[in-house]
Amino acid sequence: MHKNILRGLIVVISLVLTNNVNAQYNSLWIPDTISGTNFNLTLNDTFAQLRSGNQTITAGINGSRFWGPTLIFNQGDTVHMNVQNNLNDSTTIHWHGMHLPAVMDGGPHQVIPPGTIWQPYWRVTNNAATYWYHPHLHNMTMEHLTKGLGGFIIVRDPIEAALILPRAYGVDDIPIVLTSRGYDATNQFTVTNNLNISEYGDYMLTNGTPSAQVSLPKQYVRLRILNAEIERGYNLGFSDNRTFYIITNDGGLLNAPVAVTRVKLMVGERIEILVDFSADVVGSSLDLKAFNTGQVFGFPGAEPQQSGLNGSLLNNHDFGVLHINVAATTANPVTTMPATLANNTYWTAANATVNRTINVTPGTGIGLSEFAFDNTAFALNTINKTVSVNTIEEWTIVNSNIFSHAFHIHDVQFKIVARNGSASGVGSYESGWKDDVYLPKGGSVSFVAKFDDYSDPIHPFMYHCHFSNHEDGGMMGQFVVTGNATEINEPTQEPKDFSIYPNPANNKLFITFDDPTMQAYYIKINNAAGKTIYMLPRPQLQNGIDISNLAAGIYVMQLTDEKTKLTITKKFIRQ
Ligand code: C2O
Ligand code: CU
Repeated sequence: MHKNILRGLIVVISLVLTNNVNAQYNSLWIPDTISGTNFNLTLNDTFAQLRSGNQTITAGINGSRFWGPTLIFNQGDTVHMNVQNNLNDSTTIHWHGMHLPAVMDGGPHQVIPPGTIWQPYWRVTNNAATYWYHPHLHNMTMEHLTKGLGGFIIVRDPIEAALILPRAYGVDDIPIVLTSRGYDATNQFTVTNNLNISEYGDYMLTNGTPSAQVSLPKQYVRLRILNAEIERGYNLGFSDNRTFYIITNDGGLLNAPVAVTRVKLMVGERIEILVDFSADVVGSSLDLKAFNTGQVFGFPGAEPQQSGLNGSLLNNHDFGVLHINVAATTANPVTTMPATLANNTYWTAANATVNRTINVTPGTGIGLSEFAFDNTAFALNTINKTVSVNTIEEWTIVNSNIFSHAFHIHDVQFKIVARNGSASGVGSYESGWKDDVYLPKGGSVSFVAKFDDYSDPIHPFMYHCHFSNHEDGGMMGQFVVTGNATEINEPTQEPKDFSIYPNPANNKLFITFDDPTMQAYYIKINNAAGKTIYMLPRPQLQNGIDISNLAAGIYVMQLTDEKTKLTITKKFIRQ
């Protein structure tokens, strides 16, 4: 028997054996958590047994087979990330929804080559809610997401902590990442290279688990749901049509729970919901489902065809995304739901001093998607918009095109103030802080955001359609935030010099600047062959740079000066 088939059989058998509840389902994988202020993330190529037969080539983080650990941040903490790229490809890691300096954002400009460590850090100012991280390398985002790279971020804050809400991770507070994949004859994920056609999977993966089931206690349970699809939208609800309660949008708690029986969740969007199982019988089951039958054309996944161009087995179907078995009540159940959650002060259209309109237009050119913004395909070296720091702006995205999209912007959380020009078009289910919004065909969305804190004329933030085939195909633009007093757009002066000590070194490197007011904007450490080993945005140098992991040899440090943005290089020796 072929070794892979044997290994496959063993995994299938063990899946069946661990399924104590219903053998037709597999237990929902719950990602590990990492908390504190230092986060080590190692990206790896790997493989997973997702169906019988060959294993599928996937990618994971910190040893997982698909997807990565859940990072738990406390508002107010400064979090330090240590991202090691052990893939065979360059990639980036973007912190979706986080408010942080552009140089730490992990967009297409912060490329992490294979074998390189990237160390961004920032102070967490976001509200308690569910965020996520994922690759964002231009033209490669779809491929890297497809392999399974990504993970949840949970932010906690005092307002959320003071509420009686389920928050026992994996017990009554469950992360759920929805995506689907297609497979070829050897069980490898299919990724089309044709950005003009839709990219829908045929089979659900919920937390990377095919046909997932979970046991949930007979009480209030919180589900943190993320649509991490390439393109498909979900019209979510329960098989018994029960009412459930939306408590957060992308960027924080709503003012009060919103009762629904269905909610649409587009790519990149998150909701946290409360579901009450207290009246359910222990041992009974129900399904969280996508009620995607009969959506209007333009809803991603409403296409009638099951195969071929724009087709998939899940199109225009209702399908289960998570089988739920009701289990006994826990020792400390949440048995009530707060009537109010937060007291958000939202920006209104009247607060905006700048108004912009972005039109979804056809894309043009070979290798591009059929969609673009304002007839301009994304170009890495073109800044499309300049925003003054601390300005409140209203952006209106107009989609008179033939398909729907999910519009996402980095840096800020926004408040939707109108759909199709009318405030009454905004649903209460989307009344909170958002960073990602459904943009149906033939409609417009207006939102207001304040571009606080971080200005940087060099590193831009992105806005784009979160369908990664559209994004990779050029449906993306970038903006810089300007206006910081220390910023100099035209370098007119020579950077001041610096020295490295000790040199040679074996543990830590220290840097002294000739001009004590000088600060490092970026440090890269390259080996003698020119390969980047460390990427250190705005490094905090007072404690030195840890080089103990470097192999002995000659290295080159490239230091970019904060003020002039000019780069000086210096050699040092690792003993
Ligand atoms: Cu979730 Cu620009 O990304
Ligand atoms: Cu799109």
